[in-house]
Amino acid sequence: MKVRVFDTSDEMGLAAAKLFAERIRSKPDIVLGLATGSTPVRMYDALVRVAKEDELDLSRVVTFNLDEYIGLRADHDQSYRYFMNEHLFDKISIPKENTHVPDGMASDLEAMCAAYEEAIEEAGGIDLQLLGIGGNGHIAFNEPGSGADSRTRVVDLTSETIRDNSRFFQDESEVPRQAVTMGIASIMEAQEIVLIADGAHKADAVAKAVEGDISSAVPVSFLQKHPNCIFLLEREAASRLSPGVLE
Ligand code: PGA
Repeated sequence: MKVRVFDTSDEMGLAAAKLFAERIRSKPDIVLGLATGSTPVRMYDALVRVAKEDELDLSRVVTFNLDEYIGLRADHDQSYRYFMNEHLFDKISIPKENTHVPDGMASDLEAMCAAYEEAIEEAGGIDLQLLGIGGNGHIAFNEPGSGADSRTRVVDLTSETIRDNSRFFQDESEVPRQAVTMGIASIMEAQEIVLIADGAHKADAVAKAVEGDISSAVPVSFLQKHPNCIFLLEREAASRLSPGVLE
């Protein structure tokens, strides 16, 4: 995998946004895999700017989000559908029907997961996938223990993730205990993967991702096997990498 390091989080976000804009320009009906969390906000802010400046045509872009909490309605301000509308979809000219987020309120969650995988396949598969990384090495909600062959499914969140995400809720008890997430195998099928990370609290997980053993104990480490994956890192997040891995 390739690694690039930036002095600031804004530079990291801009680099990711420029890469996405470039790919959209060369394939206007591109299928994007999108992520939520604090880190992608910088990238989405930059993408909104770049899309306006470059008059990027987003009318044929199709998107699939990685995950969603179970039990939060789309209009709940902590649902990932709400997050995506607020930070990206409502600010760019993408038709809403082209945007997909797993339905955490589905009455038959298993059927919804299977349908989500089918919809990705019908769209032609994901061309470009954006990822963040959890402090415990998760990608999407694939917590430690997630296997290489895992696909879109219902998962229990670890206490670490519940604690991490409680900053967005009034109280830790309000954080959903379960989520729907695309699996490791679903993510690895993307043609190209861009992972973004910033902050010293990600340095350990980033080092394990890039240089550690490939193991379900650190799900992000499976990305080492992906043929076209780049990590765009802010300086602090890259601080535990060996000098040899930096471009
Ligand atoms: P963050 O989350 O961007 O909010 O740090 C990343 C993740 O857990 O995937």
